[in-house]
Amino acid sequence: MSHLGLLHLLQLQSKQRNMCNLTLCVLLFLTCSCSSLSSCPAQCLCETTVVNCVSQNFRSIPQPLPENITELNISGNDISNLNNESFPRPLEHLTHLYVSGSQVEELDSMVFKNLPSLRLLDLSNNRISQFSVEALPRDNKIEALNLSKSLYNYSYVGVFADLFKHSLPKVSHLDLSSNDLVLLPEGMFTGLSDLTVLDLRNNSLVTIRNDTLCNQALKELDLRDNALKVLPNVTLEKFSSIPDLRVRLAGNPWRCDCNIEDMLVWLERHQFVVDRLNLTCTGPAELKNFPLLHLEQSQLSCWSNAGDAMDRALEPSYVFLGMVLALIGVIFLLVLYLNRKGIKRWMYNIRDACRDHMEGYHYRYEINSDPRLANLSLNSDV
Ligand SMILES: *[C@@H]1O[C@H](CO)[C@@H](O)[C@H](O)[C@H]1NC(C)=O
Ligand SMILES: *[C@@H]1O[C@H](CO)[C@@H](O)[C@H](O)[C@H]1NC(C)=O
Ligand SMILES: *[C@@H]1O[C@H](CO)[C@@H](O)[C@H](O)[C@H]1NC(C)=O
Ligand SMILES: *[C@@H]1O[C@H](CO)[C@@H](O)[C@H](O)[C@H]1NC(C)=O
Ligand SMILES: *[C@@H]1O[C@H](CO)[C@@H](O)[C@H](O)[C@H]1NC(C)=O
Ligand SMILES: *[C@@H]1O[C@H](CO)[C@@H](O)[C@H](O)[C@H]1NC(C)=O
Ligand SMILES: *[C@@H]1O[C@H](CO)[C@@H](O)[C@H](O)[C@H]1NC(C)=O
Ligand SMILES: *[C@@H]1O[C@H](CO)[C@@H](O)[C@H](O)[C@H]1NC(C)=O
Ligand SMILES: *[C@@H]1O[C@H](CO)[C@@H](O)[C@H](O)[C@H]1NC(C)=O
Repeated sequence: MSHLGLLHLLQLQSKQRNMCNLTLCVLLFLTCSCSSLSSCPAQCLCETTVVNCVSQNFRSIPQPLPENITELNISGNDISNLNNESFPRPLEHLTHLYVSGSQVEELDSMVFKNLPSLRLLDLSNNRISQFSVEALPRDNKIEALNLSKSLYNYSYVGVFADLFKHSLPKVSHLDLSSNDLVLLPEGMFTGLSDLTVLDLRNNSLVTIRNDTLCNQALKELDLRDNALKVLPNVTLEKFSSIPDLRVRLAGNPWRCDCNIEDMLVWLERHQFVVDRLNLTCTGPAELKNFPLLHLEQSQLSCWSNAGDAMDRALEPSYVFLGMVLALIGVIFLLVLYLNRKGIKRWMYNIRDACRDHMEGYHYRYEINSDPRLANLSLNSDV
């Protein structure tokens, strides 16, 4: 019995030792393979030159990164500040950098100075309120910049405007969707001479100034899901003057009244609004969801809503009524004033009349209440 137990124990021990050896081997193998790729940072996955450090609660860029890294995905972390320590060593081959959804707030100067080959930068889903115009090297080669839902709030739109004006000479694809943009600062995109695709979808833009988009290379402009009610002639003229431009405008609250007539003419004659068949009215109520291109001129009044029209028609008559009442009041006061003597006299008369009357009463009362007089009258009756 005890023999058997000892044997069992020995077997178990040898098994454990084997396990230990195996683990050691695996560790050794991992270390070997990693060092052949030149040090993959802990908690990251490295596949050849692509490094993936997604959602690991990193609070800064993990160091050191493999020297020949070409792509880094560091999305889903918690890196509020990117500064000159973020990429301390030159990474000559890094072309794609994804820092999406990482609570990024500030990008200081010189952040990307060691990434001379960077072509794609994804900063979407962050809370950027500061982005130094010196964050990128002057001669950077960034072509695609994703700033979708990345601005802290509309107050900081100037941060992006400055950046575009001074720091991004090669950008061709720019994603600015979902940033709550209301108005685009004057000349915001004038520095981006290679801009070909501009995504402004899902903002709150109320108008596009004619000096905002002068980018002759622009081919795709997405303005869907904004707050545009009508586009004036100057803006449409501007769009049509850019040779190969395709514009998308669906999902805006188009207001189908007399002011939209010019725009309809443009939509019918020109083809650059590719989703023009999908544009629908939002107001007035009776034209809600009506396709813009099916509108007849007779439907486009500026007193569209019947209730509205009634109100507007009644408005002047209310004013007139008020004036008449005021005039009557004034005349009444004037009459009172002019007749003040007559009124006084009239009041005295009334007072006198009252007094006489009262005296009469008084007198009669006294006669009735005097017992002697009462007796007298009784006696005389008898
Ligand atoms: C660079 O990456 C390649 C694989 O693409 C690898 O063979 C090579 O060892 C790496 N060089 C360095 C210095 O890590
Ligand atoms: C980066 O990681 C996120 C999360 O896993 C993933 O959704 C995204 O596609 C990745 N991006 C790239 C370019 O690999
Ligand atoms: C990084 O920036 C800090 C302040 O922003 C500065 O003091 C420091 O010298 C900079 N380091 C390098 C290497 O440029
Ligand atoms: C930018 O990022 C958002 C969110 O991460 C993504 O949905 C979108 O496709 C990206 N835009 C481009 C042009 O890649
Ligand atoms: C933006 O955020 C700042 C700081 O939180 C706040 O003071 C400002 O009112 C916000 N602006 C807008 C347009 O929401
Ligand atoms: C539109 O933008 C808002 C923030 O501005 C965001 O919360 C929402 O998810 C976006 N919608 C789509 C469909 O991207
Ligand atoms: C914009 O339109 C105004 C007239 O509305 C015009 O005076 C101005 O020159 C236009 N600017 C550009 C850049 O086309
Ligand atoms: C807008 O342009 C059309 C022709 O393209 C023209 O008939 C119309 O008068 C213009 N409207 C304004 C307000 O300039
Ligand atoms: C119009 O809307 C439909 C349905 O939403 C969509 O499938 C179609 O692609 C849109 N057309 C254009 C030109 O965008």
